[in-house]
Amino acid sequence: MTKINLDVVQASIRNIPDFPKPGIQFKDVTTAFKQPELMQFIVKETANHYRDLGITRIVGVESRGFILGTALAYELNAGFVPVRKPGKLPAETYKQSYELEYGTDTLEMHTDALSSEDVVLIHDDLLATGGTVGATIDLVRKFGVKKIFVNFFVELDFLKGREKIDEQVPVWSLIHF
Ligand code: PRP
Ligand code: MG
Repeated sequence: MTKINLDVVQASIRNIPDFPKPGIQFKDVTTAFKQPELMQFIVKETANHYRDLGITRIVGVESRGFILGTALAYELNAGFVPVRKPGKLPAETYKQSYELEYGTDTLEMHTDALSSEDVVLIHDDLLATGGTVGATIDLVRKFGVKKIFVNFFVELDFLKGREKIDEQVPVWSLIHF
């Protein structure tokens, strides 16, 4: 049996050229997540990074941030809170718009999803330009939580999304391209 390590995880992420548009190299995480031993490794390694920080809620970003987000919530004995695309959440929401290459998009959270007592770990599968996580941090800040951490499974270093994240917010990613 292959010994699982970060290189094995990195190699398991499939590259799809020119998806969804010409010139984009799409990092397909489904080829990592479908493998039981890799799921175990990824979740444990990530959870280990955040143990003993008193994290009370994982905030996962629709839709790919739900996959590891729920596993991390289970592993860290935290609750799970979804950040959703517009019009999906049924109760009262906070809304935050952010810039895309062409136009804008909006993310939403229920206004009763977090409290000022929470220590929050925001999780998404991937950091590209940083627009999504920027809007998510702005949403979480509306609750006046105690502390915010941010985690990605994959960070695309060359897009410098990290530079857009407030330096007060600790960011850690398992895999870097
Ligand atoms: C992708 C990815 C991140 C975001 C990263 O999600 O899952 O959420 O883009 O990009 P950014 O750093 O440039 O904002 P996408 O919006 O494609 O939706 P999905 O998760 O529902 O597939
Ligand atoms: Mg996403």
